[in-house]
Amino acid sequence: MAKTYDFTDHKYDVVVVGAGGAGLRATLGMAEQGLRTACITKVFPTRSHTVAAQGGIAASLQNMTPDSWQWHMYDTVKGSDWLGDTDAMEYLAREAPKAVYELEHYGVPFSRTEDGKIYQRPFGGHMQNYGEGPPVQRTCAAADRTGHAILHTLYGQSLRNNAEFFIEYFALDLIMSEDGVCQGVIAWNLDDGTIHRFAAKMVVLATGGYGRAYFSATSAHTCTGDGGGMVARAGLPLQDMEFVQFHPTGIYGSGCLITEGARGEGGYLVNSEGERFMERYAPSAKDLASRDVVSRCMTMEIREGRGVGKNKDHIYLHLDHLDPALLAERLPGISESARIFAGVDVTKEPIPVLPTVHYNMGGIPTNYWGEVLDASGDHPNRIQPGLMAVGEAGCASVHGANRLGSNSLIDLVVFGRAAAIRAAEVVDPKEAVPTPNEASCDKIMARFDKLRHADGSTPTAELRDQMQRAMQEDAAVFRTQETLAQGCQRLDKIWSGLNDVKVSDRSMIWNSDLVETLELENLMANAITTVYSAEARKESRGAHAREDFKDGPLSGRNDDDWRKHSLSWVDEDGKVKLDYRPVITDPLTPFQNGGIDPQKIAPKARVY
Ligand code: FUM
Repeated sequence: MAKTYDFTDHKYDVVVVGAGGAGLRATLGMAEQGLRTACITKVFPTRSHTVAAQGGIAASLQNMTPDSWQWHMYDTVKGSDWLGDTDAMEYLAREAPKAVYELEHYGVPFSRTEDGKIYQRPFGGHMQNYGEGPPVQRTCAAADRTGHAILHTLYGQSLRNNAEFFIEYFALDLIMSEDGVCQGVIAWNLDDGTIHRFAAKMVVLATGGYGRAYFSATSAHTCTGDGGGMVARAGLPLQDMEFVQFHPTGIYGSGCLITEGARGEGGYLVNSEGERFMERYAPSAKDLASRDVVSRCMTMEIREGRGVGKNKDHIYLHLDHLDPALLAERLPGISESARIFAGVDVTKEPIPVLPTVHYNMGGIPTNYWGEVLDASGDHPNRIQPGLMAVGEAGCASVHGANRLGSNSLIDLVVFGRAAAIRAAEVVDPKEAVPTPNEASCDKIMARFDKLRHADGSTPTAELRDQMQRAMQEDAAVFRTQETLAQGCQRLDKIWSGLNDVKVSDRSMIWNSDLVETLELENLMANAITTVYSAEARKESRGAHAREDFKDGPLSGRNDDDWRKHSLSWVDEDGKVKLDYRPVITDPLTPFQNGGIDPQKIAPKARVY
């Protein structure tokens, strides 16, 4: 019989889990509208992974080049390889300028042009004139520390609006009613070991991605897909998990991010022959082609023997031709990272780089208001009551099969803000907060107690290492039936290994052994659904590049059979069930009312 735990009870209109860009923008928006809002976060808010976002935030402000929301939407549709939901992509592109000006007014210290406007730089896949023109300068930047600037501003504004923060609290699981309504969340206060039960009318999951399912990632060690794990344990689906983005320029060895803004400012990639090979693969956009394309080209160069270094296993990024004053003003952060993590002076030498896991396009399925969808069968767009998901944890789906650089920060603030707008409509502050379902609370604490006292023979770190290596090898930039089938088998075995996990520390205060085990379970739910969804998708699309499906006019993309979202459920035994839901192809605004021309966004071959 599991030990019983005492609860400290809290009641809120809204509980946001996670304090990155999306979580803080949602928290701020909810609090501004007078909803009693708590934000639970496992790290101090300004240490959330958004702090590492460098290059900028996309919005068609037209400060430096001509632009329009329709061009931004077109680029996002094309970047998504026609898997994104059209309503969400329109919402993102239309609301982006408003959301950025709001950030400016909240106090984000953007870099400036000579005439005082927000500075904007080119980024991969963002082009003028529906992809026909040159790169557009759309990415608004605060030097190369844009996420850092946004995070600090949003945290300050949230405090100013009386949002309450529960810092270094680890969310264990969602409290679900007998009839499937989310009623809150149980969290563990790492600092004093107490258990807190947050009853709420709405829970917003803003827990970020699961980059740490892989061996090498630009993501912080805290990016463990906690929201996805909680949703999976609540019996709800995850969506499009097979689409994992590799950023072209992680520092070789450490995986630390070198922003795409480096190429936006004029940096370029070369192979061992000194060739600027991207000119060959993407004659128009070159080094500013979209990320999946650049990562594949780099991988092909390495495979064909043109990698650099002793083992010919990476590529060089040159910035040494750029004015040192420009590097100091616009790219100070990555100049420092290159010095610390690669021992390179960027004014004199190239940076050794390699495609590195960076972002999860898949996540918890939502509509463009952030409302979670219980999406299967004949009700693909049915709303799961009491639950929202925003940011990288969610899948709106605005990035489809591949996200454009700088569309992440804008996703965080546009959809964090949208969730707050929607919550103000559906959450009634006068209504009573639901009473938590005791059976659900008992189940959550039984799992916690079981892991706390896990007495198997395999340390958490060993299982995590096995998972990370399997993901790195079997669900990589290029995939085949063989590697993916092998990935499924390896993940099945590792899942069984969870029954034999060994937790050595039984204490309740700052028990990092137990935290890492809880995180491993979350990572595993994300990892196993990733390989199963990838194995099942018999085509190439965006970041899902299958070598056994690469021919034909669309280079292996098969719109007839596969222009649909994958849904995946995983049960307690690690059995994965798959289903699919249709892509939303209707825009929000009809063409005759000022919307985008549907001809412009009709599927076609994706070339840069
Ligand atoms: O390259 C970067 O600065 C990353 C941006 C992003 O992922 O949006």
